[in-house]
Amino acid sequence: MVSCELISAFVGVAGGGGAEDGAPGGRPPAAALSGTGDPVRRDRPCLRGINHPVMMLSPEGAWLVGLTGAGLRLGPLPGADGCEEVTPVLRDSFGRVATDLRVSLTDRCNLRCSYCMPPEGLDWLPKPELLTADEIVRLVTIGVERLGITEVRYTGGEPLLRRELVDIVARTAGLRPAPQVSLTTNGIGLARLAEPLAAAGLHRVNVSLDTLDRETFVRLAHRDRLADVLEGLAAADAAGLRPVKVNTVLMRGVNDHEAVALLRHCLERGYEQRFIEQMPLDAQHGWRRENMITADEILGSLREAFDLTADDPVERGSAPAELFLVDGGPARVGVIGSVTRPFCGACDRVRLTADGQIRNCLFATEESDLRAAMRSGADDDELAGRWLAAVRGKKAGHGIDDPSFLQPSRPMSAIGG
Ligand code: 5AD
Ligand code: SF4
Repeated sequence: MVSCELISAFVGVAGGGGAEDGAPGGRPPAAALSGTGDPVRRDRPCLRGINHPVMMLSPEGAWLVGLTGAGLRLGPLPGADGCEEVTPVLRDSFGRVATDLRVSLTDRCNLRCSYCMPPEGLDWLPKPELLTADEIVRLVTIGVERLGITEVRYTGGEPLLRRELVDIVARTAGLRPAPQVSLTTNGIGLARLAEPLAAAGLHRVNVSLDTLDRETFVRLAHRDRLADVLEGLAAADAAGLRPVKVNTVLMRGVNDHEAVALLRHCLERGYEQRFIEQMPLDAQHGWRRENMITADEILGSLREAFDLTADDPVERGSAPAELFLVDGGPARVGVIGSVTRPFCGACDRVRLTADGQIRNCLFATEESDLRAAMRSGADDDELAGRWLAAVRGKKAGHGIDDPSFLQPSRPMSAIGG
């Protein structure tokens, strides 16, 4: 138990300034943390990321004071009145909070999966429009330090094609509070990069694998690279990027007979398999509902060979995959019914495209241009404000099943999966 004076003493030592009296109404005492006489900044996380916290009691209640990556901070205890005020989280008008940031590092890819892009590829974003590595790290830092992002997933296109990837991962993993850092990749090049990425602080990978058959791979992805993908998967596992998750999109008449073989392949190697319903995100606009293999169909196929029991739904949380124990567990398989079992109500994602646009949903029709703001001199406060506003406008759901549904103008490869 410590008194409010102790805050003054602590702040006086660490920040060189003194504290004023506590503000009325359960707010933090307006301590001049920087010694400049400025009041406590209300746009900082309250507890998140505070190192060496010291608990203080003032007439207004209990507070924490300590160091964050951004300096000395004071904030209320979790759940305390006022905590929200000093913690700007990326909350939308439905109360969902985005903590999971997907960052596309490039729209380019070395495969041409038919559910994603045409065989001839796309008009790639011109280089000057892409965020630089420094710009990416700056925005990710704002997300982590000031907006409550706890998980950063790098995606593409194919993120391994981005030359500065290891550096970007290292700088992300070095942020405080340390986010979970993961990568969604097609696996090509992972054999070489898994080790350096793990050493840079990458935690996990998701690797796309739709078939175990070389000819089917060529038919589906228009490149003869199955062996590279399998090698990349093994390298990720060996480098400890676990759990290695495998993403599979099944397509009618192409690879839908392979569900059991793919799951078996993953079970034998300790990878976690996830089947994803195909979404209307291909550049060619070739998606047809009747060609989509539904979650029910996937489960039906798997149940012909395995005993599947629903895993604890509490664990699903905001994760889109419904998880099933395979033959009693502990191995699990995930089924992501993006279309027939939408999980928009629990969505905790926000996206940053390779050209610096914030998208509050994969299917959003509007974006917020942080690149233009940044390049015209916006400071971190302004960028954070724009980001908060972009998330606030998130819609309730994607409405793929709605007759008025409009496919986003950008394909998946330019948004980031
Ligand atoms: N529908 C469902 N999943 C898709 N992916 C790419 N395009 C689609 C789509 N149209 C998946 C890939 C990859 C991840 C980034 O998203 O399989 O694993
Ligand atoms: Fe490339 Fe991924 Fe699109 Fe396949 S789904 S073409 S791997 S970006």
